[in-house]
Amino acid sequence: MKKKEKPSHTALKVGLNIIALSHIEEMKNVLPDGIVSATSDLLKSSKAVNTKRIEKHHSPNIVKLYKIFDWMLPGQFEVFGYRKAFFEERVLDAIEHGASQVLVLGCGYDTLCYRLASKYPQVKFFEIDHPNTAISKLEGLVKLGKSNNHFVIPEDLSKKTLSEVLGANDSWNKTEKTIITAEGLLQYLPPSSVQNLFEQCSKITGDKSRIAFTYVGKGSDGRPYAGPRTGLMLWLLKISGEPWLWAANLNELKELLFSSGWQYSEKLTGENIKRGIEYFACAIKNKED
Ligand SMILES: C[S@@+](CC[C@H](N)C(=O)[O-])C[C@H]1O[C@@H](n2cnc3c(N)ncnc32)[C@H](O)[C@@H]1O
Repeated sequence: MKKKEKPSHTALKVGLNIIALSHIEEMKNVLPDGIVSATSDLLKSSKAVNTKRIEKHHSPNIVKLYKIFDWMLPGQFEVFGYRKAFFEERVLDAIEHGASQVLVLGCGYDTLCYRLASKYPQVKFFEIDHPNTAISKLEGLVKLGKSNNHFVIPEDLSKKTLSEVLGANDSWNKTEKTIITAEGLLQYLPPSSVQNLFEQCSKITGDKSRIAFTYVGKGSDGRPYAGPRTGLMLWLLKISGEPWLWAANLNELKELLFSSGWQYSEKLTGENIKRGIEYFACAIKNKED
């Protein structure tokens, strides 16, 4: 991904989108509790985006604007809400099944760790993102009151391995049962880095750890499938400095996971595996019982 000093444009887009979704009736039952106010507070306190733009997203009129752009990626506006619900459910389920560490990769301005860390003081919450985004997030969280069991790590994962990054953190324990999430991240990484990331995730976690992630499927031409206007979408992503580099079909994904120490889990993924153009998936380290 292109290095730049500004926070990730796509991470900001997800955050603002979550606020806009609060005006849609059907999303009120989908969005995790407290996510809208927490996201708004975090975007403000991190100064990632100006307050006027955030306030605009608190007006129902913003929905019309998002709907206009829906022709580019039909249904994608709501996908962000379903995505947040998917990860929240998987993290809570993993905690219920004994996970004592949560690791959110490419966290952007996601508020899961911020919201859950105070509710689960026995669990350690870690988030990693590129310094351009993570430093402002950390500053914002400190202003809001970050829990002591919540760690934000500014690192570029294309420059250091996860083992290096977490090995340098005294609170991380690679033998503990962990849930890792990679939401809206993998398509931005080159294929070799995706394989490497899964391998690293396996190396840094204990038995029966889980990983939940989203990925983009492949079109018949082998490119990431970005909806009916794939060419335009991929070009826009490229010129915005955050191109999509990786996509997979389900069989390729299962093989990749298996060769990296993971087993794709239908049971953990659940039935709603596709929303818009994104697939949701879960895998478990070592065999499922
Ligand atoms: C589409 S955003 C998703 C943010 C968040 N997961 C969400 O869905 O709200 C992708 C995130 O991945 C991060 N990212 C991409 N490449 C990265 C890298 N090499 N190292 C660390 N973070 C990276 C970006 O900075 C950005 O915050």
